[in-house]
Amino acid sequence: MVDVVLYFHILAATAWIGGALLLFILGIFLKGKEAQAQTYEHLGPLYGYFESFWLVVLLSTGAFLFFNFNLVSVLTLDLNESKLGYMMSHKLFYVAIITVLTIIHMNIALKTHKGERTKVQKIVSRASSMMIFFLNLVILWYAMQLRYILS
Ligand code: HEM
Repeated sequence: MVDVVLYFHILAATAWIGGALLLFILGIFLKGKEAQAQTYEHLGPLYGYFESFWLVVLLSTGAFLFFNFNLVSVLTLDLNESKLGYMMSHKLFYVAIITVLTIIHMNIALKTHKGERTKVQKIVSRASSMMIFFLNLVILWYAMQLRYILS
C-alpha cells in the first residue's frame, strides 16, 4: 500500500515539476510575441488545471506518507541534531510557500485570462511563477535526502 502511494507521489512530482519546466522553457525559447501570446492563451487554462490536479495529489499522498512514517514527532526534534527533522521541516516549509504562491498565481491567471493585466499583476504573476519554479528544485533536493534516510 505504501509503495502504491509513494509511486503516485513520485508520479505527481514528475508531472508537476515536468510541466513547470516545459512552460518555463517555452517562456524563454518560444520565439515571437504572437506565438507566445497564442500558446499561453490556449495552453494556460489547461496547464493550470493540470498542475493544480498534481499538486493536490502531491499534498494528499505526501500527507499519507508523512503519517505512515510517523514523521509528526521528527518535527519537534532539535533540527541541528536530527537530519530527518531538518529535511522534513524544510521540505514542508517550502511546500507551504509553493502552495500559497500557486494560489496567488492561479488567482491572477483566472481573473485576467484574455484580458489586460495591471503592472502589479504582471510583476506578482511572473515573480510567483519564477519562485515556484526554483523552489520546486529545492523541494526535490530535500525529498531525495528524505528518501535516503527513510529507506
Ligand atoms: C510540491 C510538493 C512535493 C514534491 C515535489 C514532492 C516530491 C517528492 C519526491 C520526488 C519524493 C521521492 C524522493 C525519492 O524517492 O528519492 C518524495 C518523497 C516523500 N515526500 Fe514528497 N513531495 C511534495 C510534497 C510532500 C508533502 C506535502 C509531504 C508531507 C506532508 C511529503 C512527504 C514525503 C515523504 C514522507 C516522502 C518519503 C517517502 C519515502 O521515501 O518512502 N511530500 N516527495
